[in-house]
Amino acid sequence: MVYLAAEGRYGSMHYQRCGRSGVLLPKVSLGLWHNFGDTHPIETQRDVLRRAFDLGVTHIDLANNYGPPPGSAESNFGTIFAQDFRPYRDELFIASKAGYLMWPGPYGEFGSRKYLLASLDQSLTRMGLDYVDVFYSHRFDPDTPLEETMGALDTAVRQGKALYAGLSNYPPEAIERAAAILKELRTPYLINQHPYSILQRGVEGGVLEASAQAGVGVIAFSPLAQGQLTDRYLKGVPADSRMALGHFLKRDVLTEQRISLLHALNKLAEGRGQTLAQMALAWVLRDPRVVSVLIGASSVAQLEQNVAVLDSPAFTDAELAEIDRLSAENGVEIP
Ligand SMILES: NC(=O)c1ccc[n+]([C@@H]2O[C@H](COP(=O)([O-])OP(=O)(O)OC[C@H]3O[C@@H](n4cnc5c(N)ncnc54)[C@H](OP(=O)(O)O)[C@@H]3O)[C@@H](O)[C@H]2O)c1
Repeated sequence: MVYLAAEGRYGSMHYQRCGRSGVLLPKVSLGLWHNFGDTHPIETQRDVLRRAFDLGVTHIDLANNYGPPPGSAESNFGTIFAQDFRPYRDELFIASKAGYLMWPGPYGEFGSRKYLLASLDQSLTRMGLDYVDVFYSHRFDPDTPLEETMGALDTAVRQGKALYAGLSNYPPEAIERAAAILKELRTPYLINQHPYSILQRGVEGGVLEASAQAGVGVIAFSPLAQGQLTDRYLKGVPADSRMALGHFLKRDVLTEQRISLLHALNKLAEGRGQTLAQMALAWVLRDPRVVSVLIGASSVAQLEQNVAVLDSPAFTDAELAEIDRLSAENGVEIP
């Protein structure tokens, strides 16, 4: 059936300015790392993407290696884009990245100019796009001069193949150096992408501050700790869950201590009149330096529940202190 986007799609989503830029991003963005490879039905992928756009989720995050197999998430997105979203291209903010292993040999990963620019061309072909809105260096490469990696991002922008540059998983001191190089090149450096959740708080150790200094927004990936901060694992490991199926979320993270933390957090969420997922997302968004939570969803129902984070009550100081106390007592590192 031909897709016509919902007329009211901008009625309820909240948008926040990304750093010191002209770009507004939705508070909830959708990532296609999991659930969009060839192992998942394309009908479900299409349903999730359509519903996301109808709810005002304008930002879609991809990378060269998302799948499985690597590249298939971009190809599947390209198929759905061509059928459903081409008329809405200017309403979408689409990201891709390069940094992790994509093809064999010495030019298939990390941060060389050779790899980044070839990978971007491949991504554009797979997605059927003329340009991405943001192109990321997916990881810091300690062995390539930062000038070379930043120069490649700058070239991508000058070639019109990306509108903005982004960095992902860079340590704070590399962010500072990269920001200086990009400033000198006058490259539109928009955003940093990092893991951030109640269970993974590393960005509090300098990334949030370095990003604010550089005038770029932070987008938080895996804000639900890949599903741990939801009701998914409160009663065991469901057969269709990422933990049961995937390679990136191992069963051994579910220690007794972790399970008791999840139950305690779930109780706190119930007291706030929301689900654990919604509380976990609201907690990440409490920091104004975080422009958006970058969620994954294996169903429309998950997506809808997560977007409803926008109706969250504000946290009291006592609730925030309780989350810190429970986390610290249960082995979460708080910088
Ligand atoms: N830059 C990087 O290095 C990097 C790394 C990782 C991720 N990312 C980006 O961040 C995006 C999100 O990462 P993520 O998928 O790990 O995020 P996440 O939101 O922490 O986890 C998503 C998973 O949680 C479960 N879930 C989500 N909402 C739920 C709900 N309401 N109730 C129950 N379960 C729920 C689903 O698991 P089930 O599949 O089990 O249903 C879903 O696949 C990625 O797609 C990617 O774009 C970037």
